[in-house]
Amino acid sequence: MRVVSGIQPTGDLHLGNLLGAILRWVRMQDEAQCLFFLADLHALTVDVDPGQLAKSVREMAAALIASGIDPAKSILFRQSAIPAHAELAWILQGTARMGWLNRMTQWKDKAGKNKEGASVGLFTYPVLQAADILLYQATHVPVGEDQKQHIELTRDIAIKFNTDFDVELFVPPEPFIGGGTAARVMSLRDGGAKMSKTDPSDMSRINLIDDDDMIAQKIRKAKTDPEPLPDDPALLEGRPEAKNLVGIYGAVTGDSVEQVLARFADQGFGSFKPALAEALIALLKPIRSRLDELRSDTAELDRILADGAARASALGAPTLASAYTAVGLGR
Ligand code: TYM
Repeated sequence: MRVVSGIQPTGDLHLGNLLGAILRWVRMQDEAQCLFFLADLHALTVDVDPGQLAKSVREMAAALIASGIDPAKSILFRQSAIPAHAELAWILQGTARMGWLNRMTQWKDKAGKNKEGASVGLFTYPVLQAADILLYQATHVPVGEDQKQHIELTRDIAIKFNTDFDVELFVPPEPFIGGGTAARVMSLRDGGAKMSKTDPSDMSRINLIDDDDMIAQKIRKAKTDPEPLPDDPALLEGRPEAKNLVGIYGAVTGDSVEQVLARFADQGFGSFKPALAEALIALLKPIRSRLDELRSDTAELDRILADGAARASALGAPTLASAYTAVGLGR
């Protein structure tokens, strides 16, 4: 079992990233060889501030370590430190089909109506993601629900490449998605939209760097409906905001939705919200204080990332060499 996953170093880490990906990565560290990276090449597909990018990479690395990623157990690195990602991505562009990429919902959402004005990188983004995964022969890719389609595309690319070039080079990976709300944490302002770094409203998400008062305020103001909580999970259907908040509570405390409802049935949000805020603060406060200690030690963060890059590079090199050979560019 080999685990590979990445996160874009743009914006602040939020509760969706934590529950959907990072805290699950932390749990996998003892079971498998894990590679986790800051996807800074991916960040180039949208407008970036060149002066900010290196800082954002360190900040995100510190946030991952504060959340429990242990550089002694896992390989932690920045994507751009390893040219093999971009090299393999180029080779795989010969395998991926326009029609496959055209079907990607993330492309459709992010490009919106202005496809002509979107960067080419935004369109071919999933091919780079496939390279990230296939380079290391990953068997499991722990991600949130929103990335599932990209992992399935990675499988398709792996299988087509192996078939076209008559090799058994790439391992088609499995998307590894958590259960319940953790797989798709929704916005606090709109139960129909995903919690995301790019939502213009900061009130829509809980950031790792939010202090206790801010967390409590965001939960207090979170959109809800006037009904009390039901005793049966089926009765949360049609109540997306209530369902999301109950799901978040369960994901944070480790309780099932049934257990959460058994505790809060017939109570209004006036009593549920303070309990949710308390649970979130208990989860995030220790992570935030570790982050405060780590983020200023840039030399140590750079050392960790350089060490991770050296180890990842060695693991990926044979696959890249085989890919060159398979397409006739062996050297
Ligand atoms: P990114 O940076 O958008 O998000 C990082 C991880 O957080 C998950 N996530 C969520 N999970 C649940 N609920 C949410 N609201 C939520 N928002 C984000 C994402 O699913 C992801 O697991 N393309 C990727 C980065 C990437 C990658 C890779 C991932 C690049 N190469 C190779 C895996 C393997 C992305 O933009 O994630």
